[in-house]
Amino acid sequence: MNFMRAFILASFLVLPSVSPAAPVRSGVHLDRQTVPQGCSTCHLKFNFKAGGGPETCIVCHGDPSRLKQQNRSMPKGFAPAGRDMKNIEAEFTKPYRHPSFDVRGAHSGSEVLPETDPRAPRHADCVDCHNPHYVSSDNKFAGIRGKRVGNLVSSITQEYELCYRCHAESANLPGRFTNKRMEFNVTNPSYHPVEAEGKNTAVVSLVKPYKEKKVNAGDVATITCGDCHGSESSASPRGPHGSLYEHILVDNYSTLDNQPETPYAYALCYRCHNRTSILGNESFRYHALHIQGTGGLAGANGTSCYTCHNSHGSIDNRYLIRFNPAVVYPNSKGMLKFVEKGVATFHGECYLSCHGVDHDPKSY
Ligand code: HEC
Ligand code: HEC
Ligand code: HEC
Ligand code: HEC
Ligand code: HEC
Ligand code: HEC
Ligand code: HEC
Repeated sequence: MNFMRAFILASFLVLPSVSPAAPVRSGVHLDRQTVPQGCSTCHLKFNFKAGGGPETCIVCHGDPSRLKQQNRSMPKGFAPAGRDMKNIEAEFTKPYRHPSFDVRGAHSGSEVLPETDPRAPRHADCVDCHNPHYVSSDNKFAGIRGKRVGNLVSSITQEYELCYRCHAESANLPGRFTNKRMEFNVTNPSYHPVEAEGKNTAVVSLVKPYKEKKVNAGDVATITCGDCHGSESSASPRGPHGSLYEHILVDNYSTLDNQPETPYAYALCYRCHNRTSILGNESFRYHALHIQGTGGLAGANGTSCYTCHNSHGSIDNRYLIRFNPAVVYPNSKGMLKFVEKGVATFHGECYLSCHGVDHDPKSY
């Protein structure tokens, strides 16, 4: 053990300094006031090769009652007096979650992300998203390496850069998923405003404090992945750890075709886009017709926003238009496209076939 300790301390001297702007000592875990036993709190007993797994973290960030049952307490000398140590572990018991507990032993301290080996196992350990030596309450991503540019590897500063480490150009990205960096690229005709303010100046449905452009102090013109992905409960710790809703969403979002419209079905979108405005056809003249449907049974043949809109961005069209290929097909002439007729005029044309209705084109 002494050898191990000496080894750790020696190697600490060469602990890669990922950014001069993030000195190691600012990390909350290395603050002796907070974690009095220092390095050995985490380093005496875990398997370095695979980063220690979530157990290293949930000793302090886990379910306090589970610790009591196992007759364990916080590490010796660790007294989180007056601190509300949030139960992160509970988030990972929800049906939709990052696989931090589900995929074990796949992480390696020396791995390079985005992954270049298509056979590498997909995983997301606590330490893939939080560097335990640098993390602080101001910067939960401190010390996470960003994309290499030439010889420089900088520390990331934005949440989306963290996500792109595994949800963009990863060679092992599962086939059903898409490259998020491409979807949010600011050179696209449209995108939800995560990397920068959006391109549409007439998003008439936006609710306060959201605005197309930031003009006044209280305006919010950009959003984060975390505004849509995270726990369903605002009482839970922040972060995309787990949710009761599919795709780790903060609210329900149904992507199905042939269903009635309800506030719940598209609750996620209605957080920021006024339902009355959308169903009142303030922008697209036929929103209500499509979303609520025409059927007898309370519009049971309505369709989801997802049938026409991509949730993230569109590489082809304005207004996040990207037709769901499972529902929308080419029209009788083999055409499948959207054509806008002037910017912010609320006019356009659709060439497609949907529910057997030929659009050749249909104009609004
Ligand atoms: C809160 C728990 C925690 C504390 C406190 C902590 N470490 Fe670590 N350390 C880890 C984890 C977890 C890893 C594995 C990281 C990985 O694999 O990505 C690690 C990795 C390392 C490594 C391998 C290189 C690297 O950076 O990945 C060294 C060296 C190291 N720690 C030294 C130290 C020293 C020295 C201290 C005290 C100044 C310390 N650690 C304090 C959790 C901790
Ligand atoms: C010895 C107890 C202990 C261990 C083990 C531990 N942490 Fe912490 N961690 C803390 C304390 C205390 C804070 C500061 C919380 C506060 O000030 O409210 C903290 C803060 C954090 C924060 C910043 C959040 C915030 O609100 O300040 C993150 C993220 C975090 N820890 C992740 C981890 C990860 C990942 C691991 C495992 C590699 C880990 N922790 C292991 C005690 C611990
Ligand atoms: C270290 C890698 C890693 C990082 C970083 C990461 N993820 Fe993931 N994420 C995964 C893995 C692995 C899965 C499981 C599915 C898969 O293999 O893609 C997943 C699943 C998800 C899912 C659920 C997908 C579905 O349809 O079920 C969402 C949503 C998600 N991540 C969002 C994010 C966001 C937002 C961030 C940034 C805050 C992020 N991820 C950062 C690895 C990562
Ligand atoms: C405006 C809300 C919103 C924002 C912002 C958002 N997402 Fe999503 N995301 C969704 C919705 C809705 C779904 C499920 C439907 C779908 O697949 O489009 C989803 C699905 C996903 C999935 C799983 C399906 C897939 O296509 O891979 C991943 C991974 C994901 N998002 C990552 C991210 C990342 C990373 C960010 C930030 C860079 C982000 N999301 C920002 C709403 C959002
Ligand atoms: C896919 C990436 C990812 C994984 C995996 C992950 N986290 Fe997080 N975590 C985040 C993000 C993003 C935030 C939110 C930052 C923000 O919005 O303030 C966060 C926030 C936190 C916080 C602060 C919560 C708060 O309300 O202040 C703690 C503590 C934390 N994570 C610990 C952990 C632990 C422990 C694990 C493993 C069991 C873990 N995280 C796994 C991305 C991740
Ligand atoms: C049948 C296809 C279709 C469906 C289904 C649909 N939309 Fe749209 N939506 C459009 C078109 C086309 C536009 C562009 C109108 C224009 O030319 O400006 C648009 C524009 C928008 C806009 C931007 C202007 C505004 O109103 O603020 C928002 C936001 C929007 N839709 C949200 C939604 C939501 C939320 C849903 C689901 C509840 C939904 N849409 C369902 C086709 C659709
Ligand atoms: C956290 C807030 C938030 C949520 C949740 C959200 N949006 Fe948005 N959305 C925005 C903002 C802000 C803009 C304005 C971007 C701009 O000005 O171009 C926007 C713009 C749009 C646009 C117009 C984009 C363009 O370039 O014309 C559409 C369409 C849209 N959202 C659809 C949706 C749908 C569908 C959902 C649900 C899956 C959703 N939004 C959820 C904040 C949100």
